[in-house]
Amino acid sequence: YLNYLVPAKRKEILEILVNGLKRMEYRGYDSAGVGFEGTNTKNGSHELKTIKQKGKVARLEEEIAQTTDLDFEKEFDTHIGIAHTRWATHGEPSPTNSHPQRSDPSNEFLVCHNGIITNYKDLKSFLITKGMVFESETDTEVIVKLVKHISDKHKDSAISFRELVELTVQQLEGAFSLVFMSSKFPGECVSTRRGSPLVIGVKSKAKLSTDHIPILYSKGGVDLATEKSDHRGLMNPALHHTDSTTEFHPIGNKEVEYFFASDASAIIEHTNQVIFLEDDDVAAVQNGCLTIHRIKRTLDESATREVTTIKMEIQQIMKGSYSSFMQKEIFEQPESVVNTMRGRVNFETNQVVLGGIKDFMTEIRRCRRLLFIACGTSFHSAVATRQLMEELTELPVMVELASDFLDRQTPVFRDDVCFFISQSGETADTLMALRYCKQRGALIVGITNTVGSSICRESHCGVHINAGPEIGVASTKAYTSQFISLVMFALVMCEDRISMQDRRTEIIQGLKNLPSQIKAVLETDEHVNTLARELYQQKSLLVMGRGYNYATCLEGALKIKELTYMHSEGILAGELKHGPLALVDKAMPVMMVVTRDKVYPKCMNALQQVKARHGNPIVLGNNDDKETQQQVNKYIGVPSTIDCLQGILTIIPMQLLSMHIAQLRGCDVDCPRNLAKSVTVE
Ligand code: F6R
Repeated sequence: YLNYLVPAKRKEILEILVNGLKRMEYRGYDSAGVGFEGTNTKNGSHELKTIKQKGKVARLEEEIAQTTDLDFEKEFDTHIGIAHTRWATHGEPSPTNSHPQRSDPSNEFLVCHNGIITNYKDLKSFLITKGMVFESETDTEVIVKLVKHISDKHKDSAISFRELVELTVQQLEGAFSLVFMSSKFPGECVSTRRGSPLVIGVKSKAKLSTDHIPILYSKGGVDLATEKSDHRGLMNPALHHTDSTTEFHPIGNKEVEYFFASDASAIIEHTNQVIFLEDDDVAAVQNGCLTIHRIKRTLDESATREVTTIKMEIQQIMKGSYSSFMQKEIFEQPESVVNTMRGRVNFETNQVVLGGIKDFMTEIRRCRRLLFIACGTSFHSAVATRQLMEELTELPVMVELASDFLDRQTPVFRDDVCFFISQSGETADTLMALRYCKQRGALIVGITNTVGSSICRESHCGVHINAGPEIGVASTKAYTSQFISLVMFALVMCEDRISMQDRRTEIIQGLKNLPSQIKAVLETDEHVNTLARELYQQKSLLVMGRGYNYATCLEGALKIKELTYMHSEGILAGELKHGPLALVDKAMPVMMVVTRDKVYPKCMNALQQVKARHGNPIVLGNNDDKETQQQVNKYIGVPSTIDCLQGILTIIPMQLLSMHIAQLRGCDVDCPRNLAKSVTVE
């Protein structure tokens, strides 16, 4: 956060940083820290201070309040502060391992990092030979020590802060978004990204002077690998100065605040004017002016970065009267599914138009195969719609977990169409798989919930699911919106097939009724809560079903395990007799999804098999199916819809159940342990 706008008290500055962290907390929450400018009380010199704490941001806030030597009322004309909430990859959660990481005990340089540095061991060994002493177990510490090392090498030259960062990141492998501050460069901040997201918010009192920021290129570029050096060029890096003639003075004078963040939700309460950086952009703020730099220009890249206005509203990222974001997001589903269909499905004419892929439909219809690649819940949305996709497209459909797809180095062809489904649009495995398919010439379609995300930007075309910001770590409304987006795509694929018109019509009418049916499902909340009270002390819960509801079992079990830490498994009922039946006895809690579709008789067989082993299943079925209800003691009924849409209604009681069990077990519903909302590491 950089403030050039109005004189601000330290207290206010720290509040802005901590509030930003609270909005970002869903991405990681095992420790947090802030770095800010201060004055050495002994000699009056400018220095940087940090406060770091294990645990959630609230603990950091307490720590800040208790730090007695902070002059909270001191006012600053300009100020820079950086802050971070961490999800541990290297090194356990602890104050030392949290960010900002520092270059040395005097805090000459500080960095916050989102991502992972894969070559940190080599860099660390190198820096140790140069006398650097490491204090944390993080990969991040090498970055800030490397800046210091390069800075020391250039102590006699007029190297700028931004150039130091450029030289540093050329040595890094992996994924990162970084923000640096330094006591050597007071009032300046440098930030860059590769593979991890980074957005800059600009707030100024007056209208911005431009909405396109020209990129500044270094002359010739820097290629450390070819420099005479002791370790990949570090001894003698070449410097090529940039023509710094064009700067971004947003309003002519310098009354401006800048916000650098991994996610727009951290800054939306301050501004909706944002710039999304591209990989390898280096943004520097000096004297209130923002410049964006790149080392080299490639032929097809844009020479400017646009200032865009994002539509997110602050209310969308507030909990309101709900007890958790997850609860809010579950209960938002009657509206979020409408937003997904808005302007796309015409219920009068039965037309479906997906503007983001419209121009690519001819190519998509001619493809050899459709591949759907994703992780976790997003993967389940592809499983949920596979059967319909096969039916309506009559094409081979592959549904793949991104990590496994990459491990197998799956063959991909130029005439494949590859869909990448991701709520955040930043999941590293999914993004890697996207790049893998793009390299092989396939058409890339992104299905995301985050405008401006990496998957969005790297796709040839796509569908935005429009579910609104999802803050709860466990995905809920994004799943139902992904599901509907994929159904809409399948409907577009078969719009010209006469033989499929009746089927299309019934599905479109089914979509129309979904919002009110979801509302009806949400009314089962109290009943689901009663079941949760019966189940919450159990060790395990099996969730069985087949056909269109198989995805509900996988997704329901994922919700249970990630939120309640109970063991849970989604089981294809057809596989029951091939192993899982051995788990069933009178003590094992079993949930069975049995709705009135083509596989109903087979599901009933499974139900009988479970009952014959003295199992006492809870059935999730249609609320008008009295016959099935009579077979069991515990039943959750949802309205009936078209077979291929039933999974949208059956997942909601599972979302509610996992939330209630988690609450009863005292778990943090929005921030399950060890998880993060946006998994930007492989
Ligand atoms: C589970 C959950 C995760 C994500 C997965 C992919 O509730 O949220 O399984 O679905 O990490 O994330 P996205 O969709 O952002 O790519």
